[in-house]
Amino acid sequence: MIYLKTPEEIELVREAAQLVSKTLGYIAPFVKAGAVPKQLDKLAEEFIRDNGGVPAFKGYHGYPATLCVSVNEVVVHGIPNNTPIKEGDIVSVDCGVKKNGYYGDHAFTFLIEPVRPEVKKLVQVTYECLMLGIEQAKVGNRIGDIGFAIQQHAEKNGFSVVRDLVGHGLGKSLHEEPEVPNYGRPGNGHPIKNGMVLAIEPMINFGKYKVQALKDGWTIVTQDRQPSAHFEHDIAIVNGKAEVLSTFDYIYQALGISPLKVSVE
Ligand code: MF3
Ligand code: CO
Repeated sequence: MIYLKTPEEIELVREAAQLVSKTLGYIAPFVKAGAVPKQLDKLAEEFIRDNGGVPAFKGYHGYPATLCVSVNEVVVHGIPNNTPIKEGDIVSVDCGVKKNGYYGDHAFTFLIEPVRPEVKKLVQVTYECLMLGIEQAKVGNRIGDIGFAIQQHAEKNGFSVVRDLVGHGLGKSLHEEPEVPNYGRPGNGHPIKNGMVLAIEPMINFGKYKVQALKDGWTIVTQDRQPSAHFEHDIAIVNGKAEVLSTFDYIYQALGISPLKVSVE
């Protein structure tokens, strides 16, 4: 069942999504060589609680932390540990909050420079996949159009799309229908409607698309142990097109870097 949201509900998801965005901006300066994921997790949890939210992942099906910190070959759901981040790593930080009964869910892949140019390209292309997917999220299209755009762009650049994990609706629950795969065929899937609120989250692999879960039951890694990147935005369909409820601007401000741009030829 897909719950279409009222404008008031969309504002509540926006508030939650903005708090996640600010949380990622808050921890961004700490995501560097030598940083310990568990410490980042603590900072994020404190920031969320100080701002009237509750970490959404903590306790979700038993997940033990506020953040997912997924380094290199870890695709998603990396449990923050005590292994310091190092130069050359790519680090996806995924965070969810619940505020006033509504969820926000948002992720960014940080570069711990110097990063190999081909891996940097993977991160840039994954970001572009997210933005190209969002562009297809409009009335008149279907969910499959989103995945098609993402898959086309990833594969055109020689990368592959994770199949086993997908984006999702969100609102009063962290995960709602519909599923939003990062692969698909144009004209397939649910029609996109005003009031839909979606988390779009391409997970793109440098090598092959296959992934596996580690014994901790959470950590998802690439089967070939090549790196993987991940970005996630929350969007609402308003007046026929996507409005992005989350923002990377706090991260860009904190790091003094220029926004990632879609540079598709
Ligand atoms: N963005 C991820 C997702 O939508 C985060 C979930 S982590 C979990 O699946 F712990 F909450 F499962
Ligand atoms: Co999500």
